[in-house]
Amino acid sequence: MSGKTYKIAVIGGDGTGPEVTAESVKVLKAAAAKFSFNLEFGKFEWGGEYYLSTGKVLPEDAVEQLKKFDAVLLGAIGHPKVKPGILEKGILLELRFALDQYINLRPVKLYPGVETPLAGKTPEDIDYVVVRENTGGIYTGVGGISMKGTKDEVAVQSMVYNRMQVERCIRYAFELANKRHTKATPWRGLSKEDIEQGKTAQLTLCGKTNVLTFVFDLWERVFYEVAKDFPEVKPAYCHVDATCMWMVKNPEWFDVIVTTNMFGDIITDLGAITQGGMGIAAGGNINPAGLSMFEPIGGSAPKYTGMGVINPLAAILAGAMMLDFLGEEEAAAAIEKSASFITGNKLKSMAAGKMGYSTNQVGDLVIENL
Ligand code: IPM
Ligand code: MN
Repeated sequence: MSGKTYKIAVIGGDGTGPEVTAESVKVLKAAAAKFSFNLEFGKFEWGGEYYLSTGKVLPEDAVEQLKKFDAVLLGAIGHPKVKPGILEKGILLELRFALDQYINLRPVKLYPGVETPLAGKTPEDIDYVVVRENTGGIYTGVGGISMKGTKDEVAVQSMVYNRMQVERCIRYAFELANKRHTKATPWRGLSKEDIEQGKTAQLTLCGKTNVLTFVFDLWERVFYEVAKDFPEVKPAYCHVDATCMWMVKNPEWFDVIVTTNMFGDIITDLGAITQGGMGIAAGGNINPAGLSMFEPIGGSAPKYTGMGVINPLAAILAGAMMLDFLGEEEAAAAIEKSASFITGNKLKSMAAGKMGYSTNQVGDLVIENL
């Protein structure tokens, strides 16, 4: 076949992770055939079982092995027999940091036919993107415990950011906001006045400038400095607590949100549930100049392992995000369109066991409607 060839590393991971990634791979293969490009897959059996049998979370050369690929597709990490934190930190966070995937891109999008817990809200209202900083903040693990086990013990975990980390994340978010809308199709949340001023999109910084007056002082200053390079993007600011409130009450107010690692982690679970839950929420850990890793936002759901009832759409949509990132925009859009057709016309629910179809059948439906 003609067309480009992309090498994809697949880490199925734990629980239902391998089942959902298998469906994603199936759809990706169909899309490659249809849109004339080639995919080569390499499988990596890392996760809870690997750890239990080898005592290691990852082989020493894991990063080197992955760097031979163009992108990574990840299922889910988390095993009931392994203490929480070991695999999450040892695999997921380790790879995000080692591969410098400094952006975690998480679209919050309600697809047609999907039930949202937000009364009266439609796909028109819930359609924004969260840009979560992905390699800094509280996640860097700066801190410690002293006098552990005594009545005087002290625990500290610091939110650490340098200007470079803040700036590259904010710049990425402005560029994304700019790309999402054009003069011809501006974000419909803009006022007439905004449009007269040439604005086409909005970027909201989600922070906590009223309490975390050091870290968010830096974020806010950098945000408004970078904003000057993007005259078409309207900069806005919202405290994290208020962001949660508006994500529920008025999600249509958001276009693109940029935020820190910890706040982004929290608000994207809220966002995911407003778009129908973990069965459909996809994300990408992105290094714009390097190797990126795409994953469903949800966990390994061990109790459903091997039953064929888990929803693979989040993994399928993560695969679509991966193709988009690789430059196969047409194929990516076709997968998303097909997924959106089946949520609107086929699936009864997004929840495991309630879709009206098996995991495998959902993958087939996406392919049939490509
Ligand atoms: C996520 C997860 C991870 C995170 C955990 C599993 C370490 O919750 O991808 O959102 O906190 O980033
Ligand atoms: Mn999370």
